[in-house]
Amino acid sequence: MPKHFLHITDYSKDQLWDILQLAIEIKTKFKKREDYKPFRNQSLAMIFAKPSARTRISFETGFTWMGGHALYLGPNDIGIGKREAVKDIARVVSRYNDMIMARLFSHDHMIELAAYSDSPVVNGLTDYNHPCQIMADALTILEHRGNLDELKVTYMGDGNNIVHSWLQLASKLPMHFVCCGPEGFEPDDKTVKMVEDSGISTFEISHNPASAVDGADVIYTDVWASMGQKDEAEEREKLFADYQVNEALMASTGKDTLFMHCLPAERGREVADEVMEAPYSIVFDEAENRMHAQNAIMVSLLK
Ligand code: CP
Ligand code: NVA
Repeated sequence: MPKHFLHITDYSKDQLWDILQLAIEIKTKFKKREDYKPFRNQSLAMIFAKPSARTRISFETGFTWMGGHALYLGPNDIGIGKREAVKDIARVVSRYNDMIMARLFSHDHMIELAAYSDSPVVNGLTDYNHPCQIMADALTILEHRGNLDELKVTYMGDGNNIVHSWLQLASKLPMHFVCCGPEGFEPDDKTVKMVEDSGISTFEISHNPASAVDGADVIYTDVWASMGQKDEAEEREKLFADYQVNEALMASTGKDTLFMHCLPAERGREVADEVMEAPYSIVFDEAENRMHAQNAIMVSLLK
């Protein structure tokens, strides 16, 4: 296993499957509240430069249940890259802590943090990607469908950090992935090329919701303006209006389609309220699985 968990593409297909399998095992233990303490006497530093509900709660709860102590460091505590150089923080924090989870703006800072840290670093989101989320998503689809075979995922909206991690998964596990949104909001070219070069999955950029969702097993969306872009929210609302996931879109796929969202959702913008509440919406299973997937990621990094 690599030392850090920064990108899905740092892992082989077999390693990714091992993590998913381990997540299922650890989830069963958690459900029974078994005594499972691989992190006894260990500590996890959680560095947050951006806000969070799921990431903070799931890492802290998971690490604590597994016998360790998790330390929350919020946006005003460290000032990573502002008050102090990233490479200095990396060496200081990793002398106290056995593992670091970080949510940062700059992806380059994440890479630098890992390069200088003696302890494993887990990427809890950057402007570029969100690998823990997509591992939880894969686990959730696996539970609901029983397999990940011949999967068509249609992502509606901004070609953002969530899409980049989906594309990285698509370069390891076969699927058909469609990213459908307005022109000018496509995902990063180099990441698209990773999927193309892998020859494992097919990828399509679409500006047409009706054809994009045809035959989709999963329709996925995320906010139109990510953290750090909220001042563009009003303008984006107009540009993205035709790409909302609503009941009519969900009903137009020609098959039973699951709805997913990494959350937090802005109901009435990227997703209609009824879709969030519909029986085909698996957003809360998805949120729950953040913890189980991450527990497996952290345990894998111990080995
Ligand atoms: N999905 C996700 O990462 O949620 P938070 O931003 O609340 O952590
Ligand atoms: N794209 C969103 C994901 C939040 C989990 C953001 O970066 O704000």
